[in-house]
Amino acid sequence: MNFDLIKHAAAGQFEDTRFEKIHNVVFKDSLKASKIVAHEIAALIKEKSSQKKNCILGLATGSSPIDVYEELVRMHKEEGLSFKNVITFNLDEYYPMGKENTQSYWYFMHEHLFNHIDIIPENINIPNGTIHPEDVKQFCIDYDMKIKEAGGLDFQLLGIGRTGHIGFNEPGSHYNSGTRNITLDHITRVDAAPAFLGIDNVPRVAITMGISTIRKAKRIVLLAWGLNKAAVVKEAIEGDITSEIPSSYLQNHNNCTFVLDEGASQELIRVKTPWLVKPCKWDEELTLKAAVWLSNLKQKSILKLTDTDYNNNGMSNLLVENKSAYNLNIILFNKLQHTITGWPGGKPNADDTNRPERKDPARKRVIVFSPHPGDDVISMGGTIDRLVEQGHDVHIAYQTSGNIAVSDVEAIKFAEVVLELNQGNPAATSLIKSLNSKKEYEIDTLEVRNLKSVIRRKESIAATRYLGLPDENVHFLNLPFYETGTPTKNKLGDEDLKIMQAFISKIKPHQIYASEDLASPHSTHKVCLNSLFDSLKKLKEESFMKDCRVWLYRGAWYEWNIHEIVMTVPMSPDQILKKRQAIFYHQSQKDGALFQGDDSREFWMRAEDRNRETAEKYNALGLADYAALEAFRRYDF
Ligand code: F6R
Repeated sequence: MNFDLIKHAAAGQFEDTRFEKIHNVVFKDSLKASKIVAHEIAALIKEKSSQKKNCILGLATGSSPIDVYEELVRMHKEEGLSFKNVITFNLDEYYPMGKENTQSYWYFMHEHLFNHIDIIPENINIPNGTIHPEDVKQFCIDYDMKIKEAGGLDFQLLGIGRTGHIGFNEPGSHYNSGTRNITLDHITRVDAAPAFLGIDNVPRVAITMGISTIRKAKRIVLLAWGLNKAAVVKEAIEGDITSEIPSSYLQNHNNCTFVLDEGASQELIRVKTPWLVKPCKWDEELTLKAAVWLSNLKQKSILKLTDTDYNNNGMSNLLVENKSAYNLNIILFNKLQHTITGWPGGKPNADDTNRPERKDPARKRVIVFSPHPGDDVISMGGTIDRLVEQGHDVHIAYQTSGNIAVSDVEAIKFAEVVLELNQGNPAATSLIKSLNSKKEYEIDTLEVRNLKSVIRRKESIAATRYLGLPDENVHFLNLPFYETGTPTKNKLGDEDLKIMQAFISKIKPHQIYASEDLASPHSTHKVCLNSLFDSLKKLKEESFMKDCRVWLYRGAWYEWNIHEIVMTVPMSPDQILKKRQAIFYHQSQKDGALFQGDDSREFWMRAEDRNRETAEKYNALGLADYAALEAFRRYDF
């Protein structure tokens, strides 16, 4: 592996960056990117050590740097990388916040890095969330002074918030700001809400290194993973320098690299519309992407696009390859048309040359993997309905219990029902006692977690029965990685993979549906997807797998882009209502569910809006006018 970020960039990306004001590199996989960043840090530590100097590192918390720290720990344990010459300064800490609180950044840093390496404890500096309010100002001045006296930051690792913050320098932060306390932006608090089990528990204030402190670092590397960072990454890299996007200040730094995965890079001009930047190598998907974009731009259906439209918008070589807009338009129109099918399991006895699914076997065994209870119906309730109606042997597998997302109020309600029906019931009495005496941030007892899991199981069964699935086809895998009792999950382990593989081998499916979510490498959806991909790698030589196709759907937040869709299943107005009802059965997730994110629409509304929007996009491209479409992409293992 080439561990040099600059060389990596030089290997293929420098020439396309005329809209970009910050050097950046895009990796397919955030894990590989994290390893490369860790190696850059390790090389710096060793270089300083060989010069008998200290290495001064500025460190970040959050989900983005977790794999960097893991690789550093690995290098310490397996390769003897020593941190004896390292002095660290963390970017920030919530305020007020005790060290022992599992949400503190002090706790995070010790859990992910400091407890596993040989750093001298006195060399660790993290803003102190426990100091007296009157002492905060002096503490901040001293913090900056301490960095200066140590010789300044040699390397600063950063994440980026959806507000554009670096550290907790929220919009409005001044270019020359030093370390200080700051009020957190609402979006930042929304993003932190899952970890704190609800926005009301998220602190309103933090202490953060200032912009001036950060930009004095000799080298800065910012990590951004996932689609939900794409918009702000574009602003920071391509937009004007503005206090509204504090990370845009990094445009002025002379040694700063943004390290991105594909999701986070998606809005950059060179990624989103490469034909505007350079001559492209046109494959089928890029061609469709460009035509959909052009059709949007010109507000015309695909079949109405002209030679001039293509020529004037950076696609003249595409036209040369296809001779004329007329030829190209027909090819693209047919391609889109062929993605639409009312027969997601294949249409028996029909010519399937141009259909997304093969006709045989007419009755397929199907697994729908759903990361949490409810993702299945939210994302593909209409398709499940069709698969069942068309006689396939449909199995739903809920990968995790989803217990963490049930509120205490909901759990008490159910325990009280049991108690009222069965006065003195010891289990219900103990559950109610435990829930009523629970302290803030306290982890639920095993029995409470079990109650919450049962609530979600029963809601799921109600929904699947409504869609006509027999109970024995509904499976609760309860993958152990999820069962921490906190929003922070364990890494995917052997036990998880064993469960997944045993299940797939038992069903021997012809079709697998799974959720593809690009939000972050550590989100439950992503871990669940990895559990499937890893299992497929192991199982792919099995004879039954040779006859299996994998279809990916997206979660409650994102939808596939039109050019990525390989199969799309229409829903009639009646089916839309049926899907809505199936989602309603997941009652504990209605009305301000714990993990709603910053979208205040309930899940059924998001699903309906999203499916309607896909239908409208198809219609605008000149295809039939459906009420709603569910979309899938094929995964080739
Ligand atoms: C963390 C910090 C923040 C995060 C940012 C992204 O110390 O200062 O700026 O880097 O909020 O957080 P994640 O990585 O969780 O998306």
